[in-house]
Amino acid sequence: MTVELTVTVNGELNSTVVDGRKTLADFLRQELGLTGTHLGCEHGVCGSCTVLVDGASARSCLMLAAQANGTEITTIEGLAVDGELNDLQQAMRDSHGFQCGFCTPGFMMTATELLRENPHPSEAEVREAISGNICRCTGYQSIVKGIMRAAELIHE
Ligand code: FES
Ligand code: FES
Repeated sequence: MTVELTVTVNGELNSTVVDGRKTLADFLRQELGLTGTHLGCEHGVCGSCTVLVDGASARSCLMLAAQANGTEITTIEGLAVDGELNDLQQAMRDSHGFQCGFCTPGFMMTATELLRENPHPSEAEVREAISGNICRCTGYQSIVKGIMRAAELIHE
């Protein structure tokens, strides 16, 4: 069964027809070519597929594309401003907040939501916010550092 889908992704309106069983992650990656949204576990555990749906973080592996009808979605590709890294991306880079980078888009989207809702998070609040994202490489210290640094940059 196919369904009509109208969704705004990174500011661009898309109207299309999708398989009713297609996940949002597969739609973003396969139909829109937004492969920055990564698929790790594909069952809601690792957080690497996290995107923002109407500003709220969501696991795109657990959501059907059809459920995104009428929403505004932001993916990792939507964070840069005029082709330049935004404060969070710059801070993560400066803090070596990633190694292989597989988990990074998910952490970035989770952190984007956190910093919007809480622009001055404590370290404990950062750790709580990212507790649903798994990284196999960094030991988390550099990711926490990067997000804390991003909070500083936003206010400079
Ligand atoms: Fe979606 Fe792991 S791929 S939570
Ligand atoms: Fe490799 Fe996080 S940097 S999984």
